[in-house]
Amino acid sequence: MSLPSQVRLIEVGPRDGLQNEAQPISVADKVQLVDALSAAGVGYIEVGSFVSPKWVPQMAGSAEVFAQIQRKPGVTYGALAPNLRGFEDALAAGVKEVAVFAAASEAFSQRNINCSISESLARFAPIMQAAQQHGITVRGYVSCVLGCPYEGEVAPEQVAMVARELYAMGCYEVSLGDTIGTGTAGATRRLFEVVSAQVPREKLAGHFHDTYGQAMANIYASLLEGIAVFDSSIAGLGGCPYAKGASGNVASEDVVYLLNGLGIETGIDLDALIAAGQQISTVLGRPSGSRVAKARSAQ
Ligand code: HMG
Ligand code: MG
Repeated sequence: MSLPSQVRLIEVGPRDGLQNEAQPISVADKVQLVDALSAAGVGYIEVGSFVSPKWVPQMAGSAEVFAQIQRKPGVTYGALAPNLRGFEDALAAGVKEVAVFAAASEAFSQRNINCSISESLARFAPIMQAAQQHGITVRGYVSCVLGCPYEGEVAPEQVAMVARELYAMGCYEVSLGDTIGTGTAGATRRLFEVVSAQVPREKLAGHFHDTYGQAMANIYASLLEGIAVFDSSIAGLGGCPYAKGASGNVASEDVVYLLNGLGIETGIDLDALIAAGQQISTVLGRPSGSRVAKARSAQ
C-alpha cells in the first residue's frame, strides 16, 4: 500500500498531555498553548475534558479555557466527555466536537471510568443522541489496544469489537490508543489488519504513547497500513493518570518532522510548533520531550 499524501494530526497535548501534570497550570497558560498551536497551523486541538474534577483535577478549568481561546476558523477544538453530564457541560462551554472514550480491557475501563466496557458503551448512547440533536460531532477512543497495565495482552479482536461498536453508534472516527506504549510495529500492523475488517481504515486513527520508545516506528507501521490520522502531543507531554508508568504521547514536533521527510502534507509549520512546545516546557519547568525540539535548541 502506498503512503498517504496528507495526514491529519490531532493535537492532544492540552488534554492528554496536561491532564497528567500534578502542578497547577493556569488557565492563561493553557489558553496561550492552544492559541500557539492554532497559529502553527494545527487543524485539530483537544483542549480539555469535562470529567469529574475529583478524578482528574487538572482538567477542572476546561470551560474557562474554551471561553478564552481565540477560535481560528477551520480549526476543530475538541473535548472529552465520559457521560451525559460531561456532554452537557461541554455543550454549555461552546464545544462543537466531543470525544467519548472506551477501553479494550475490562480492568482499565473500571479504573479509568468506573464501569465495564458494555456499561460505558451504554452511557455513550444518550451522548450520541444529544450530539446529533445539537449538531455536535463525536470522535471515539479505544484505550489499551496493544496492552493493558492490569491485564497484560489484549487481543486485536477485542479492540475490533469495541471499535466497531463506537463506529456503529455514530463516532465518525475511532482512535486506537496504545495507552502504555508497549506496542511494536509488528503488533501495530496486525492490529490495523484485524480492526479494519470491522471499521474502514479511513475512519481509524493511531494514538501512540512513547513509553517504550516505539511510537515513531508504530506510526510508520500505521502509515504502511493506510492510516492517515494520528494523535500526538506537543513537547511529548502526557500520560494517563489511570495507567501507571504511561509516559508521554509521541511528540507532535517529531511526527511532523517524520512526515515532512516523507513528503506527507500536514499544514503545520514545524518551527512555529517547536516554539509552542518550548513555551509550554518553560511553563512546566522542564526540557521538551521532543527529540527534534531538543536537537534544534542545541544547534
Ligand atoms: P463516578 O464516580 O463513577 O461517577 O465517575 P458518578 O456518576 O457516580 O458521580 C460521582 C461524582 O462525580 C458526582 O459528584 C458527580 O456529579 C460527578 P458528587 O456528587 O460526588 O459531588 N460527576 C462529574 N463531574 C464533572 N463532570 C462530569 C461528571 N460526571 C460525574 N462529567 C466518571 C465516573 C466517568 C465521571 C469518572 O470516572 C471520570 O471522570 N473519569 C475520567 C477519567 C479520565 O478523564 N481519564 C483520562 C482520560 S482517558 C485517556 O487519557 C486515554 C486516551 O488518551 C486514549 C489512550 O491513551 O488510550 C483518551
Ligand atoms: Mg492517551
